[in-house]
Amino acid sequence: MPAEIISGTEIAKEIREELKQEIAEVKEKHNLVPGLVTVLVGEDPASQVYVGQKEKTSHALGIYSERHDLPADTTQEDLLALIDKLNKDPKIHGILVQLPLPKHINETEVLYAIDPKKDVDGFHPVNVGKLMIGEPDYLPCTPHGIQQLLIRSGVKIEGAEVVIVGRSNIVGKPIANILLQKREGANATVTVCHTRSKDMSFHTKRADILIVAAGRPKAITADMVKDGVVVIDVGVNQLGETPEGKRILCGDVDFDAVKEKAKAITPVPGGVGPMTITMLMMNTVRAAKLAAGLD
Ligand code: GUN
Repeated sequence: MPAEIISGTEIAKEIREELKQEIAEVKEKHNLVPGLVTVLVGEDPASQVYVGQKEKTSHALGIYSERHDLPADTTQEDLLALIDKLNKDPKIHGILVQLPLPKHINETEVLYAIDPKKDVDGFHPVNVGKLMIGEPDYLPCTPHGIQQLLIRSGVKIEGAEVVIVGRSNIVGKPIANILLQKREGANATVTVCHTRSKDMSFHTKRADILIVAAGRPKAITADMVKDGVVVIDVGVNQLGETPEGKRILCGDVDFDAVKEKAKAITPVPGGVGPMTITMLMMNTVRAAKLAAGLD
């Protein structure tokens, strides 16, 4: 039987409705308006789209939003000075510096400069460390979105064999940590595979839940999964464009073949993608509440 399709678009909509109410409530009761700033250096078209979506979603939910678009030749010193200013601005609760940054800027130094309390991406080492010891303030957005997709589609995570393909700092490592936590919506047995794994199929075939962030189209084929697996496809690969100039996207999983064996699967687009921005909004609300002593 073909798989149930896990719709990130629908689940993200549901969470955004909840957030909209929460934002209206903190505004009414506490006169608190969560504020998010995005900083974009350069003119990368994909990054411009992402930043635009973040701004649009902030407005739709009632979050105060500021956007700083800086030229590609901005110096690291100027960028750090802007971050310092934003760290001190009480209207701003969350700071997001869009990655990747131009080559002449040291990404690590920039991420370290963001006040961990305003680090709504969850990339600062303080927040990475807090997650690692099971005391997170902010969960990184894409992995948090994946956890929510599983929970809200009724997938049992506790005790499940979760296999992750990819070990990036943005997806693979943090989702492993999140699902490993000793708490509800986690408690999984986690395996992380990567480019140097000896026998990828051996691991992926054991998965009850397979999370793929490999960065390669169709890296997972039907012969690599077992019947009844739940598949979360984090990949976004551009295969080309339609004659009308629309991007043709595919994930890291051979969707058409794998959906015949899987119990449930996320599509690309419309799976993990819509969740990432939604979780950024959730982190911004949390940052505002933490700053106001409400959480
Ligand atoms: N670029 C691609 N994904 C992300 C993300 O989650 N956060 C930031 N800051 N930049 C990104």
